[in-house]
Amino acid sequence: MNAFDSTPLGERAQAMLDTLASISAEADRLTRLYLTPEHKRAAELVAEWMRRAGMSVRMDAAAGIHGLLSNGANSPRRLLLGSHIDTVIDAGRYDGALGVVAAILAAEEIRAREIALPFGLEVIAFGDEEGIRFPKTLIGSSTVAGAINSHILDMTDSAGETVRNALLRFGCDPAALEFEAYRREDIVGYLEVHIEQGPLLESWSEPLGVVTAIAAQSRHRVHIAGEAGHAGTVPMSLRHDALAGAAEFMVMAEELAYRGERNNVVITVGELSLKPGAVNVIPGEVQLSLDVRAASDKARASAVEMIMRRSRQIGSRRGLVIGIETVHEKAVAVCAPKLRAAISRGVASVTGQRPRELMSGAGHDGLAMAHLADIGMVFVRCRAGISHNPLEHVTLPDLGIAVEALVRTIVEVAKEERE
Ligand code: GLV
Ligand code: MN
Ligand code: MN
Repeated sequence: MNAFDSTPLGERAQAMLDTLASISAEADRLTRLYLTPEHKRAAELVAEWMRRAGMSVRMDAAAGIHGLLSNGANSPRRLLLGSHIDTVIDAGRYDGALGVVAAILAAEEIRAREIALPFGLEVIAFGDEEGIRFPKTLIGSSTVAGAINSHILDMTDSAGETVRNALLRFGCDPAALEFEAYRREDIVGYLEVHIEQGPLLESWSEPLGVVTAIAAQSRHRVHIAGEAGHAGTVPMSLRHDALAGAAEFMVMAEELAYRGERNNVVITVGELSLKPGAVNVIPGEVQLSLDVRAASDKARASAVEMIMRRSRQIGSRRGLVIGIETVHEKAVAVCAPKLRAAISRGVASVTGQRPRELMSGAGHDGLAMAHLADIGMVFVRCRAGISHNPLEHVTLPDLGIAVEALVRTIVEVAKEERE
């Protein structure tokens, strides 16, 4: 390691992350969903941090908070940095938040060190990367990337509130979504720092890694319609049990994922609800979520196609109607070689050694931002690879190293921009 002391930056990052983590819908755990009052409070805090770092701040039509550190030039060209401030239910404090905090601190350092850049620096705190509240995900980054369709405004959460209404209550103008798209020629690239959410960096004893690509992903809503009936009187052979069909569907999907393991196919059913839901009634209806990811678009598409085919067989054998609706689909996002190289140099100048490269199985705002510009991602080691869990942890020195590596990566990108 060079003579770099990561503690001061690490302490600043940790203090900000702890403050952000105290903003939650629940007293005893961290839950901050898109367009909720706690998202609003987190957005206000982040905006305040951005202002203190010398940035001019605005909120976009999808509730993204943008802080611009101008380089004083007339040109609109800027490098985007960011991540998200929504969380899963019972979340850890680093997923998303670390990228926003690291970006704000990096901008603050660039300003404090009087580093002249040939572009502006724009930090964005997106509001919806987890896609927990509404069926759609990456609403904020897709909006900036010009990859949003206004039909998402009619999507509803579990309480029946539409995205449109939630945006209005948050103080956003839903009609302005389509005008938020950035122009490709104005954007140097998009950089994001994120915890790895997996065990590789820890197993390599490396604090940071360079992401090669973000896996393809799709999300689907599966509806299984059977026939409710009396648990005591309907013989087994005459039943159309939607929940038993769902169980077979889930095991089938799991088997397909095991078969596709070579292509990093992973399939998850994370939500399930049934009707009518009584001890003595055969379930008549089931709704479940399906999340499919893979290292290639082809592997993901063929897994989905196979699930559809096999679900038709399950449906006809059991007398069920199984409908599968695709609510979100994103192709693999490959990180740009130039940004990967800049990150690698930036990280090496802090740690003293070239970082290793790894792929991201988790989804990130970069999936959407890749529609707009070159993307680059830095992964930060997290304890035991645990994420989407309150036990998520990054050490204080690693936080400091991550922020410093981001500062130096920005400097590397600036050198290239000048060439
Ligand atoms: C977000 O963390 C996702 O990968 O779904
Ligand atoms: Mn995340
Ligand atoms: Mn997440």
